[in-house]
Amino acid sequence: MTIAPVVAGGTELAREAARRRTFAIISHPDAGKTTLTEKFLLYAGAVAEAGAVKARVGRRRARSDWMEMEQERGISITSTVLQFTYRDHVVNLLDTPGHRDFSEDTYRVLAAADAAVMVLDVAKGIEDQTRKLFEVCRARELPIITFLNKYDRPGRDPLELLDEIEEQIKLRPTPVTWPVGIPGDFRGVVDRRTGTFVRYTRTVGGLTTAPEEIVEPDRAAAEEGEHWSQALETCALLDEIGADVDPKSFLSGESSPLFVGSALTNFGVRQLLDAVVDLSPAPAPRLDADGAPRPLGADFSGQVFKIQANMDPAHRDRVAFVRVCSGRFERGMTVTQASTGRSFATKYAASVLASERSTIDEAFPGDVVGLVNAGELRIGDTLYDDTPVSYPRIASFSPELFASVRARSTSRYKQFRRGLDALDEEGVVQVLSDPGGDLTPVLGAVGQMQFEVASHRLEHEFGAEVELSPTPYRAVRRTDETTAAQLRSSPGTRILARRDGTLLALFESEYWLARLESDHPDWCLERSLVQEPLARK
Ligand code: G4P
Repeated sequence: MTIAPVVAGGTELAREAARRRTFAIISHPDAGKTTLTEKFLLYAGAVAEAGAVKARVGRRRARSDWMEMEQERGISITSTVLQFTYRDHVVNLLDTPGHRDFSEDTYRVLAAADAAVMVLDVAKGIEDQTRKLFEVCRARELPIITFLNKYDRPGRDPLELLDEIEEQIKLRPTPVTWPVGIPGDFRGVVDRRTGTFVRYTRTVGGLTTAPEEIVEPDRAAAEEGEHWSQALETCALLDEIGADVDPKSFLSGESSPLFVGSALTNFGVRQLLDAVVDLSPAPAPRLDADGAPRPLGADFSGQVFKIQANMDPAHRDRVAFVRVCSGRFERGMTVTQASTGRSFATKYAASVLASERSTIDEAFPGDVVGLVNAGELRIGDTLYDDTPVSYPRIASFSPELFASVRARSTSRYKQFRRGLDALDEEGVVQVLSDPGGDLTPVLGAVGQMQFEVASHRLEHEFGAEVELSPTPYRAVRRTDETTAAQLRSSPGTRILARRDGTLLALFESEYWLARLESDHPDWCLERSLVQEPLARK
């Protein structure tokens, strides 16, 4: 007689969900996000030597044409999802674009994450882009693990950085490891949980994992002398102020377990990856649009958080990235698109590593599935099997820059419109129209480079060369019909509508806007980093 194994937590689905960790890395460009990503893959055994990801990215760049902008500028515009196993956990690492101009894209990616790793360069601390991305994490209430990177070279006093994190972004760091040695002579870390010294040995170019030796305190004192006693002194100070990991405030995004290391030499990378698995949360039931949790064990449901067109120019297709929120996804299942009630066949489902796809047969909560040729799907769409559910739509950033856009040749008008629709749906730029009748669309963006990508793609992908003209608008507010009616007669003001019906009021002068706000406190002039969309009509 065979006895079926008893699975902790009940069903296989509960077990699979419990071993998922889905997170993203946020950092200012150059802080070490790409290096760290590679090293995670190295420590998980997904690559034998670091360097494979860059090589893949290189191949992808060589193959893709519109992404030549990325190549020219050496920036990462598109995001990818990496999945690997580590200590019997399935880790989904969502990559976010490094450039600040694409922070709205990052915001959407973070909608699919359960946690984030914030990488800081120990010489620089909190930088512009870190701050902006952090705001996005806070808006999403994501738990954050902090990594102080590049301790192998001269940097600032890490204690000073703790203060900076707390003061500048109001996140309380709780160090788990603390460096032993000084920048330039980085020996290893004290693990504050055990009081032991983790000593590393460098490997050539950091291509392979750094051998680690766990050294008991007495021997550490004998062998490391001054370095060890200094590290212990700081740890005593940290104990005194109670800077210890606190799961509750970590999960609510108020405190952040902090690790010190060097992604380049692999020092501290394993401890960080362990923390992703041990500290960051497994997928939890998502709240639907009415605020009710959808149990993980319910029928399949997922949300589209990103649309990526033409990852492979040979196919010119569209991939919708779906985060699985409940149930088991099986390739080939027919699901319902909540916004339209239409059914959608998932015959072409892929897991995507850079542009390399492999067919995926099943996925569990926390996983990301790429649905190929998903022309009907939009960002924020909910898909479900059987029992209906609709997740709250993903908010858009308030655009900060505006430009009118025209097709250079009227004979390409159809291609131009088609291109604009596609770019709007993908969230490359927001395409705004004038409900008052002016037919020239206005593009709204958070960063200048979004305009460049839009114009490049309209020309090369849709065959419509365009002319972008700057507009004089300096400030924007979300508004409603009543206020819009009042504002139409106001000088230096323009009302534009987003595709989802949201009305935006644009102002040429900040001063004028401030006056309107003080003269008419009852008017609807909302200012926010993100703007919740209206329900789709
Ligand atoms: P990003 O994705 O956040 O933009 O950063 P990336 O990993 O590309 O790292 C930026 C630079 O910082 C790279 O150097 C990288 O090697 C270096 N770096 C990353 N982590 C560490 C670290 O722990 N210590 C030191 N000393 N350097 C680190 P590069 O010269 O710009 O590129 P490469 O030629 O090394 O690839």
